[in-house]
This record gives sequence, structure tokens and C-alpha cells, in this order.
Amino acid sequence: MRVQRICCIGAGYVGGPTMAVIADRCPDVQVTVVDINQTRIDAWNNADLAQLPVYEPGLDAVVGRARGRNLTFSTAVSEAIASADMVFISVNTPTKTKGLGAGQASDLRWVEACAREVALAATGHTIVVEKSTLPVRTAEAIKTILEAAHDGSEMRSFSVLSNPEFLAEGTAIRDLETPDRVLIGGEDQSSIDALAEVYSHWVPANQILRTNLWSSELSKLTANAFLAQRISSINSVAALCEATGADVREVARAIGTDSRIGPKFLQSGPGFGGSCFQKDILNLVYLCRYFGLPEVADYWESVVTLNTWQQHRISRLVVQKLFGTVTGKRLAILGFAFKADTNDTREAPAIRIAGDLLEEGAQLAIHDPKVMVSQIARDLKLESSGTSEGLSGIGSWGQATSVEEAVNGADAVLILTEWRDYQSLNWKSLAARMRRPAWVFDARAVANPIQVKEAGLMLWRVGDGAQ
Ligand code: UDX
Ligand code: UDX
Repeated sequence: MRVQRICCIGAGYVGGPTMAVIADRCPDVQVTVVDINQTRIDAWNNADLAQLPVYEPGLDAVVGRARGRNLTFSTAVSEAIASADMVFISVNTPTKTKGLGAGQASDLRWVEACAREVALAATGHTIVVEKSTLPVRTAEAIKTILEAAHDGSEMRSFSVLSNPEFLAEGTAIRDLETPDRVLIGGEDQSSIDALAEVYSHWVPANQILRTNLWSSELSKLTANAFLAQRISSINSVAALCEATGADVREVARAIGTDSRIGPKFLQSGPGFGGSCFQKDILNLVYLCRYFGLPEVADYWESVVTLNTWQQHRISRLVVQKLFGTVTGKRLAILGFAFKADTNDTREAPAIRIAGDLLEEGAQLAIHDPKVMVSQIARDLKLESSGTSEGLSGIGSWGQATSVEEAVNGADAVLILTEWRDYQSLNWKSLAARMRRPAWVFDARAVANPIQVKEAGLMLWRVGDGAQ
């Protein structure tokens, strides 16, 4: 079977870019991305490619080529399902906040709703592909819902595949165009072949891995757990470096040259953010407890505990260095996104760090090149008190439109995202705008330490015990 029409439910950070690349690479396949959120779909259809709802380098070019040709964005969910022979489910699966498994298990209500919608609307043979990261054995639930939809009166059939996405935000297009591997889990060989054929337009056959359903689902959780574990490991070492006079970057270089360890994902920072790492580990923890493996659960849970600790450690450190109080003091926060090159703030370290400092009564002037003021307000659960220039009062914040505006009159600058712009700041001219004594807290180690010190600023760099 050859796939001709694809429908993807969920036009988010994963569904949008993934489908844009599939459409771009497979001009003969008709790809429709649907979402219940009209505003989001309107943004994907915006004639101005700079206004797409997801910011990803290179995404505008890919969408520009495929949109209107074989890539469509729409809210007509059931119509798109009805005409598709393959339906991707790429809706969000946040951690449950209430009920059984609250704080750990994934909330699968939207995935279930999608399965029900597919069960109602599909025609002919439909291959349903899990793209959302899900707890192991979710495919079984999807299958049960689809099978229950068999009313015998129609020629309809379903098969379910797991095809987890490994793209990282900020490099999504590159990751999709040249993936390390594509993973397809399933039971029905012809459906696996059909999906593999789609990817074969640009992915070499030996990089398309085939596994059973559960291995595929578990591989995604495990991959994220291993990646996150490396970050918590290096952040734990960073704290020890600061205490002992070692430098975490030197340690990372030294251990990273061991080919068994490798150099990637050894960058110490303010802790990992993003929609996946914490959610997926907590999911893993929940599964381990459920299956009677409390030691395994504790092991993985400590990766998240260390991450949270690292974020609070940084805010505590800021308060300590500023004579034990930041009440009424102005602090510049550079970077709110969870990493550079994205407008995504989900689980961003800045949320917790800024939250702690607001609680301590600071006035925060927040700058980020891509994150909107309304998003920051939602994340901090606090409205901005206008522009950063007019900040007053205790525990307030405002958005700064430039780094210069952010640092005006500030006692400290905190660098929380490694945006390229922050790597080449003119510290001399920034220092002249600050109140003395002034600090730079470089949680990403992106500023040039010599220039910072020559500008007469005090510097704390994550993991630098030699400073
Ligand atoms: C999400 C999950 O977080 C991730 O685990 C998974 O791997 C892929 O899907 P992301 O694309 O980043 O990642 O989520 P988000 O940007 O929130 O997009 C999900 C979209 O699904 C939203 O636009 C939402 O409106 C849409 N949606 C949700 C539907 O169209 N229908 C629903 O029933 C629920
Ligand atoms: C991650 C996985 O990399 C990807 O494969 C999966 O599909 C989704 O989750 P993402 O969250 O988009 O992708 O970004 P990633 O580059 O992995 O960074 C996650 C967090 O770790 C960021 O906050 C980043 O700043 C942090 N990080 C990463 C570090 O602190 N140090 C590092 O060395 C690498």
C-alpha cells in the first residue's frame, strides 16, 4: 500500500514542522494538518511566513514551498480524517495535575479524544500513527477504541503504529531532514512498510528502525531520560566544581573526549526545560512504580529532583550574593525561552528562577528576542506592570525591548537562555547603565568572562570554581 493522503491531528511544535517536512519531501502525498485551535490554524495559514505560530529556523522556507501545493492547515478535523489513509496523532499529553497519578502520569484525554474522532470519521483502511510521546502500551488503548468502532456495516479497518519524534526545538528542521534514525513500532508489516516508504523519500533505509510497538514507545521515554540524565549529571558536577575550584567546562571536555562518553549534552546550565524531558521521566517513574519497580522509579526520579534543585540553587545564589535581599532591587533577566532559537517556554528554567526572585520581592526586567509578553505573564502567573522602564513596587516585572533597557539601573544581570545575541554583548557600555556593585550571573556560561570583569562587574558562571 502506498500512502497518498496524510492527516495530522495537532498543529503544534511537533505536528507542524514534521508535516511540513513530509509534505516538502513527498510532493505526491497530500498532507493536511488539523487542529481544534482556530487561531493556531490561522497563524499557520498566515501569508506572512514570519508570523507562523512556531518559530524554528528554516521552517518558513519549508512551509513556503509546500503550503498551497500539498500542505494544508485546517480545522475541519473529521473531513481530513475521512479522506486520509494515514492519521498522525500529535496532540499534547501534559502531566496530569489532578487525580490518579497526578504530577507524574500523562494526561491522555486528548489522545483518547483523537482516537474516538478517528473511529467515528475514518473510511476504508486507516493507519493510525502515534506521534505524541505516550506511556508504554497506549497504542493498545487506541487500538481498543478503534476496534470498538467496528460496526460491521462498513468496510473499515485500522492498524496502529508508534513513530516517536526525536526532533529538538530550535533545530527541528535539520533534525527532521537528517535524522539519526526514524523509529517505527508496530505489528502489521504492510502498515510499517507504508510509513517507511514515506520516510524513504529522504531517509536512508538503514536508518529506519523497526521494532514492536512497546519497544518503540519505551525507546522514546528512555532516550529522553538518558539525555536528561546527562544534564543532571553535569549540573551536579558543576556544583561540586564551584565548591572545589574546578571548572565544569574543563571537566566536560576531559570526560567528553572519551569516545564511550562523547562530547554532546554535557553543557552545564540552569537545568533542562522543554515540554518533554521532565514529563517523560515522570511518566517513566509512574510506570516503574505501577509495575512494582520502586528502586528503578527512584533512580530516574532523582534526575528531575536534581534539575529542580539546580534552578532553586541559582535563585538562592543570586539572593545571597546581593547581600541576602533582592526586595525592591531591579534585576535584568536575559532569556526566557527554555533554550535558544525557540519561542517555547514550557518548563523553562527562567519560570522557576524568576518566580523565586519575584517571591523575594525583586523587580524583574525580562528580555527575550522571541517570547511574547503575554506568554511570560501566563508562565509567571502574574501580569506585567507595563514596560520595564516604569517598574516599581515589590515583586513585579516588565518586558524590556532591548538588553540595554533591561539592565538600566539593575543590580544584576541573569543570563538564562543562550541566545546568540547574549554571546557578544558590550559589557563596558552595559556596566555603565547599572547600579554598583553590579553582578552578572551567567547560568549558560555564554558571556566572555574577561570582558565582564574588565567592565568592573562581578561574575558568577555556572560550574566555575576557578573564578
Ligand atoms: C505534543 C506533546 O507535548 C509531545 O509529547 C508529543 O510528542 C507531540 O505533541 P507539541 O506539538 O509541542 O508536542 O504540543 P503543542 O504545541 O501543544 O501542540 C498540540 C496541538 O494539538 C495544539 O495546537 C492543540 O490545539 C492540538 N489539539 C489538542 C487538537 O487539535 N485536538 C485535541 O483534541 C487536543
Ligand atoms: C528534547 C530531545 O532532545 C528530543 O530528542 C525530543 O524529541 C524532545 O526533547 P528539546 O527539549 O526540544 O528536545 O531540546 P534539547 O536540545 O534536548 O534541550 C532540552 C533542555 O536541555 C534545554 O533546556 C537545554 O537548554 C538543556 N540542555 C541541553 C542543557 O542544559 N545542556 C546540554 O548540554 C543540552
